[in-house]
Amino acid sequence: MELQLLVRPAATAPSSARARPSLRLPAPAAGPSRPRRPGFPTLRAAAAAAAAIAAEPETKEQQQNSIMETEVFACPVCYEPLMRKGPPGINLPAIYRSGFKCSKCNKSFTSKDIFLDLTVTAGTKEYSEQKPARTELFRSPLVSFLYERGWRQNFNRSGFPGLDEEFEMAQDYFQPVAGGILLDVSCGSGLFTRKFAKSGTYSAVIALDFSENMLRQCYEFIKQDDTLLNANLALVRADISRLPFASCSVDAIHAGAAIHCWPSPSNAVAEISRVLRPGGVFVGTTFLSSPRNNPFSVEALRPLRQIVGPVNTSYNYFTEGELEDLCKSCGLVNYSSKVQRSFIMFSGQKPY
Ligand SMILES: C[S@@+](CC[C@H](N)C(=O)[O-])C[C@H]1O[C@@H](n2cnc3c(N)ncnc32)[C@H](O)[C@@H]1O
Repeated sequence: MELQLLVRPAATAPSSARARPSLRLPAPAAGPSRPRRPGFPTLRAAAAAAAAIAAEPETKEQQQNSIMETEVFACPVCYEPLMRKGPPGINLPAIYRSGFKCSKCNKSFTSKDIFLDLTVTAGTKEYSEQKPARTELFRSPLVSFLYERGWRQNFNRSGFPGLDEEFEMAQDYFQPVAGGILLDVSCGSGLFTRKFAKSGTYSAVIALDFSENMLRQCYEFIKQDDTLLNANLALVRADISRLPFASCSVDAIHAGAAIHCWPSPSNAVAEISRVLRPGGVFVGTTFLSSPRNNPFSVEALRPLRQIVGPVNTSYNYFTEGELEDLCKSCGLVNYSSKVQRSFIMFSGQKPY
């Protein structure tokens, strides 16, 4: 098991992260060996140590020794790497037992629920904010429950090829980054997250969504499968426009049927480009629009926008040209796409 962590001396690290009371989930197994990424540092923390920490209450000395700087997770406010106190590893039991803290802005983050909340508003007591309807819709418990129980299957009527084929198509694009860390952004109920995690292709899979209820659904499906509970798999709540990951830290980013739901696709793709490593691959799918068949497409509304200013629509649909332009404007290269009726799978790569 590869652990993407750097152990820091306890004396240099903050000591106020809370120790987690008990472990609800089984301890992680060592898992199958994964291909190592070229040039990636050797293991700094042993999987055996993680298993020992998970099995026994920590002594004071062990607690101090397990304060680490994370290589991937970063503060959503200032993008500094988060300090972590607890057992290492990108897996649900270890993350549930860990506290995370930004040493720059002192903000703490925990997995109070089954997911690690890395939104800017994590822990706020009075402040709350409404996102656009296309984000808020998916926070509903009912929509989250129905999503994988009929809602998603409906997409096939617009040309989506179905989960198995979509997964294989994405895996083809991700071949150059096999063995790396994959981020499944806007994962919904985790239908692709589970496939990526089970494939054994990646050293870790991080499922990310803004919807608390989608992440709960995600966990409901994961816990039905012991191999997934013990896999190198994490659930993170975050806003796509403010990704809580260090720049150049992630190898692969998948965004299934999501870009049309994002509040600002340009901020989101810029963030995706920031967190990808050089050579990292982004793959997205969405519904294509054309001015002829969609009265609410960005292109169709452009003349209206020139007259009345911003026009609010429920979803943002794009043409092939717009998606390519957006990826390129965020610095991604080697753009390619596959189209079937309104379905498009598109991909771009962070230059070396
Ligand atoms: C149509 S679902 C796609 C789910 C899954 N990826 C798939 O392929 O079916 C869109 C997802 O985007 C998420 N989403 C919407 N706004 C978001 C935001 N601002 N940040 C992160 N995720 C967001 C929703 O919560 C929802 O789970």
